[in-house]
Amino acid sequence: SPESKLQLVQRHIRAFPDFPKKGILFRDICPLLKDPAALTAVIDLFEEQVRKNYQQVDLIVGLDARGFLFGPLLAQRLGIGFVLVRKKGKLPGTTVSVAYELEYGKAEAEIQEDAVSPGQKVLLIDDLLATGGTLFAACELMKKRKAEVLGCMVVIELKELNGVEKIKPHSLFSLLQY
Ligand code: ADE
Repeated sequence: SPESKLQLVQRHIRAFPDFPKKGILFRDICPLLKDPAALTAVIDLFEEQVRKNYQQVDLIVGLDARGFLFGPLLAQRLGIGFVLVRKKGKLPGTTVSVAYELEYGKAEAEIQEDAVSPGQKVLLIDDLLATGGTLFAACELMKKRKAEVLGCMVVIELKELNGVEKIKPHSLFSLLQY
């Protein structure tokens, strides 16, 4: 039987033990980007999910940095806009920011104030859900702008870190779970 889109995607994700430090099994999505058929399969699967469950979406919001690799492709496929959530200090003009906890210390996420309007329906996208700290911060930014988060989408969900709990009540759609 022909290989499914999901199998094609799965074949283009590599695992590196003990990167960036001992005990971490790093999921590397670079092979996905190197193979146009595999990358198309990712966007096809995301598009199918949006058309089924999030037809009213106004905007795709991508997370720094690997959300920027998939978000614009999905947004263009859907015929809607893409905006960036960045680490603090990277965006010009008036910005809105939120502080969040990392494994060690703190960070801040930021959007341009005019990037999202009150009442807009948005989908958040990133490559991977780990503890959910960054996606949670992005949800907080959307709340500050009075935008409606329809859900979060990632290529990979790391189940044991239980990030899905952190982003509640928002829904998560993941292509692959480890
Ligand atoms: N970010 C956080 N945990 C990760 C992992 N295991 N692989 C890739 N990116 C990550």
